[in-house]
Amino acid sequence: MALNGSLFLLFSSIFYRAAYAQNSTDNLQYVDPLIGSANGGNVFPGATLPYGMAKAVADVDSDSNQGGFTTEGGNVTGFSTMHDSGTGGNPSLGNFALFPYAACPRDDVNRCTFPKTTRKIPYVSSSVVAKPGYFAISLSSGVSADMTTAQHTSLFRFKFPTTGNGTSPLLLLDLTDLADSRQDNATISVDAESGRMTGSARFLPSFGSGNWVGYFCADFHGADIRDNGIFANTRASSAVKDLQISRSINGYPLPGGGFIRFTSNPADGVMVRIAVSLISSEQACKSAESEIPEFDFDATHQAAEAAWSEKLAPITVSTTGVNTSLVTNFYSGIYRTMVNPQNYTGENPKWQSSEPYFDSFYCLWDSFRSQLPFLTILDPVSLTSMIRSLIDTYVHDGWLPDCHMSLCKGYTQGGSNADVVLADGYIKGLSDDIDWAKGYAAVINDAENEPYDWSNEGRGGLDSWKALGYIPTQDFDYKGFGTLTRSVSRTLEYAYNDFVVAQMAKGIGGKDEDVEKYTERSSNWQNLYKKDQKSFLFNGSDTGYTGFFQGKYANGTWHNQDPLWCSTIDPNNQRVCSLQNTGQETFESSLWEYGFYVPGDQAGLITLYGGPTAFVDRLNYLHDQNITYIGNEPSFLTVFQYHYAGRPALSALRSHFYIPRYFSPTHAGLPGNDDSGAMGSFVAMSMMGLFPNPGQNVYLITPPFFESVSIKSPLTGKTAVIRNVNFDPSYQAIYVQSATLDGVPYTKNWIDHSFFTEGKELVLTLGRNESSWGTKVEDLPPSLSEYTGFNGTVNGTVGETVRRWESRAALGSMKSGVLGGVGKEMV
Ligand SMILES: *[C@@H]1O[C@H](CO)[C@@H](O)[C@H](O)[C@H]1NC(C)=O
Ligand SMILES: *[C@@H]1O[C@H](CO)[C@@H](O)[C@H](O)[C@H]1NC(C)=O
Ligand SMILES: *[C@@H]1O[C@H](CO)[C@@H](O)[C@H](O)[C@H]1NC(C)=O
Ligand SMILES: *[C@@H]1O[C@H](CO)[C@@H](O)[C@H](O)[C@H]1NC(C)=O
Ligand SMILES: *[C@@H]1O[C@H](CO)[C@@H](O)[C@H](O)[C@H]1NC(C)=O
Ligand SMILES: *[C@@H]1O[C@H](CO)[C@@H](O)[C@H](O)[C@H]1NC(C)=O
Ligand SMILES: *[C@@H]1O[C@H](CO)[C@@H](O)[C@H](O)[C@H]1NC(C)=O
Ligand SMILES: *[C@@H]1O[C@H](CO)[C@@H](O)[C@H](O)[C@H]1NC(C)=O
Ligand SMILES: *[C@@H]1O[C@H](CO)[C@@H](O)[C@H](O)[C@H]1NC(C)=O
Ligand SMILES: *[C@@H]1O[C@H](CO)[C@@H](O)[C@H](O)[C@H]1NC(C)=O
Ligand SMILES: *[C@@H]1O[C@H](CO)[C@@H](O)[C@H](O)[C@H]1NC(C)=O
Ligand SMILES: *[C@@H]1O[C@H](CO)[C@@H](O)[C@H](O)[C@H]1NC(C)=O
Repeated sequence: MALNGSLFLLFSSIFYRAAYAQNSTDNLQYVDPLIGSANGGNVFPGATLPYGMAKAVADVDSDSNQGGFTTEGGNVTGFSTMHDSGTGGNPSLGNFALFPYAACPRDDVNRCTFPKTTRKIPYVSSSVVAKPGYFAISLSSGVSADMTTAQHTSLFRFKFPTTGNGTSPLLLLDLTDLADSRQDNATISVDAESGRMTGSARFLPSFGSGNWVGYFCADFHGADIRDNGIFANTRASSAVKDLQISRSINGYPLPGGGFIRFTSNPADGVMVRIAVSLISSEQACKSAESEIPEFDFDATHQAAEAAWSEKLAPITVSTTGVNTSLVTNFYSGIYRTMVNPQNYTGENPKWQSSEPYFDSFYCLWDSFRSQLPFLTILDPVSLTSMIRSLIDTYVHDGWLPDCHMSLCKGYTQGGSNADVVLADGYIKGLSDDIDWAKGYAAVINDAENEPYDWSNEGRGGLDSWKALGYIPTQDFDYKGFGTLTRSVSRTLEYAYNDFVVAQMAKGIGGKDEDVEKYTERSSNWQNLYKKDQKSFLFNGSDTGYTGFFQGKYANGTWHNQDPLWCSTIDPNNQRVCSLQNTGQETFESSLWEYGFYVPGDQAGLITLYGGPTAFVDRLNYLHDQNITYIGNEPSFLTVFQYHYAGRPALSALRSHFYIPRYFSPTHAGLPGNDDSGAMGSFVAMSMMGLFPNPGQNVYLITPPFFESVSIKSPLTGKTAVIRNVNFDPSYQAIYVQSATLDGVPYTKNWIDHSFFTEGKELVLTLGRNESSWGTKVEDLPPSLSEYTGFNGTVNGTVGETVRRWESRAALGSMKSGVLGGVGKEMV
């Protein structure tokens, strides 16, 4: 056996070396960080390490500058070092911005413009360069900047034009952030001799409660100091070296900070090394000195590239015959899954612990669906740290977060979906030093105990949940407080949260009572099914579908929300569908779309909707009528739910409908906020052909967009391979006809995580017509209930559907305006 095994390995590694013309350096060239830098993608397109805390970029004043920089032509307000990526709501972070001048008019410091509102300046579009670990841009003033980062430290290099008079460039450091959230008593101290600037300021989180304090330490390099000091509002002086500044009474924080002028204008430019810390300026200085000791730009840049290269190395695709834009789409999506969350280990002032600390879970409602499951495959070591951090947050804060940024609790959007993150990691066998007993206690805490403030953590309405089996519309809830809306989407999410708790309980063992209790509660979604609920289009026509989830009061009377409200086609732009207290009973989506959110019991749902044919028909209607919108996360699983109805071919067709049409490798190429990489993970997992149903050991199989994909497990070192036979780069032949797993015929339309850890080989033979592969009841993914109504016959070919969609091929990338009332508030 051993001999045969190694012979086989030798053979296959030779084979695959020939088949994959790539190495890990190649993967980096396919990353374009500017994808999603316009049209509301809100990505952070600057320089960072994987999960880095230092994120350097030029900040602009455009409307969608949540991630700092956009390619929408705003003006540059400064260069800052902390950012989040892809978020909605208020712009996030962007603290302690630098701003450069070649010289001050008439050589007078007071004639340089200090306030952000007036100093901002256009940039040269063609000068923008964004690569993993690197960002460069030139300003219309002739100043050019490039930047790279280490874990907590950014290195900026500014090159100044020669000004005629001029040998005296000036840099200012502003105690500001993107959202102008700075609170009272920010400080800065400027050291006359060394030029070092240190200080701190208190800021507000961009989508959460409380506040946080950031510290910095900036050093300058490359030219001698002429003078330095502080500025307040529009005036500066080298006679003053320390500043403590108020927020001011009228909203906008008073401009204030430090400045430094140099005696010369070296051709190599001037460098600024600025580190940030959440502990102290001393700690920031220590990070700066240890991470970038010599101001070596190239070495720092190369180290960042190497870190990214290593992260992307485990996944290789065959590019044969494929349009390069798809390869770029794929690797850029992967890249974005590792920009956020951020590794703040050693930077958490809130508790002492030897556990890792990650932040910018922004939000788990977005990332539990495919981003964190993707990292379970590609970067399980980091995901393990994230899970340990979530559990440690429960230990010290009392609750798992649902959303978290800059040390603050973020707002909960629906259920307690950290439960799903933990269950997913548990079920997929992550173990390295994760205290699963505490992890289990954390999810039980969510399921059983109501927090006082469930806008920030846990679940609301637990008394009703336990007594009535649903969250009532206008619940009577005096134990904890949060926005009393979303009763339908909360019920559906809580039910699934309980489902995954039961899965964990099963795995841990000896918890039969819990298994029974949470399995039973996981069926609570059924309590909101109103079987005679009809749905009419906004022109009055009947959609023809009857039976939807609906809000229900505690007294058992049904609420009456139109099933299409808050859908993409809802014409009412004023409708409130987010966290406002005037919101609907569904969060950022419609009753129609939430009608599919029963991830633990698709068989039960299919039966409820009248069997697989009726289910497929309804799912088609959801997509074909634009009721769902692929730019928001609840749509993700709906693309692949055909698998549960025995129609895996339709999942493949749907995923090709959305990619690349709605996800193209262009600046405006994302259909909505990237949400910390959630959209990126949707692209990556759809294109690799295995999509997760998170919280379950299930990946739904569709043919990869490449002839082959191989993924080397960072934990076991084994390589899993998915290979398409009859691969068709024009994507007409996207239907699995037959499959083998490690050479043995395989008819299930799903596969479990051992595929990755044990390095199996899945070979899919493709054809142009739907086949009977994966359509029988025994081929379907696990579900709580029995599948009923299946007779093992495929209902027709998909030719008709294809033709319908192809006629829409001219469709461009949708503007976020299409979302109407839903768009603005999305997080
Ligand atoms: C990896 O690919 C790059 C770019 O094609 C090439 O220059 C380099 O030599 C390759 N490295 C290895 C180890 O194959
Ligand atoms: C940028 O600033 C320039 C003036 O410096 C102004 O003319 C222009 O309108 C600004 N652009 C934007 C997008 O605000
Ligand atoms: C250069 O010096 C001249 C004479 O002092 C002054 O008028 C002009 O404004 C200066 N230019 C700049 C860019 O500082
Ligand atoms: C800010 O500083 C002033 C003066 O030192 C002090 O009176 C005030 O309490 C401080 N405010 C805050 C919010 O710490
Ligand atoms: C590759 O895809 C891009 C973007 O969709 C398209 O513009 C280009 O024409 C395609 N190239 C080929 C050779 O098909
Ligand atoms: C997180 O950061 C800490 C401290 O910088 C480092 O030791 C650790 O390896 C990092 N963890 C991951 C998963 O990158
Ligand atoms: C309403 O719109 C649907 C879909 O566009 C269409 O099929 C139907 O005929 C319209 N009904 C009326 C009454 O206009
Ligand atoms: C139940 O409560 C709702 C909301 O308060 C109310 O409109 C309805 O009339 C009540 N139904 C009954 C049967 O009392
Ligand atoms: C769906 O939206 C697209 C893009 O706006 C549009 O072209 C198409 O006609 C819409 N379909 C329906 C059925 O409204
Ligand atoms: C595929 O389906 C089409 C139309 O439904 C049919 O004409 C064709 O013969 C089928 N091809 C194969 C290979 O079965
Ligand atoms: C069985 O399959 C046939 C052919 O596709 C279909 O017409 C019929 O409705 C199916 N029966 C059930 C019970 O789904
Ligand atoms: C497949 O299902 C659709 C919708 O229920 C039905 O109209 C059609 O006749 C079925 N086709 C076959 C071949 O059974």
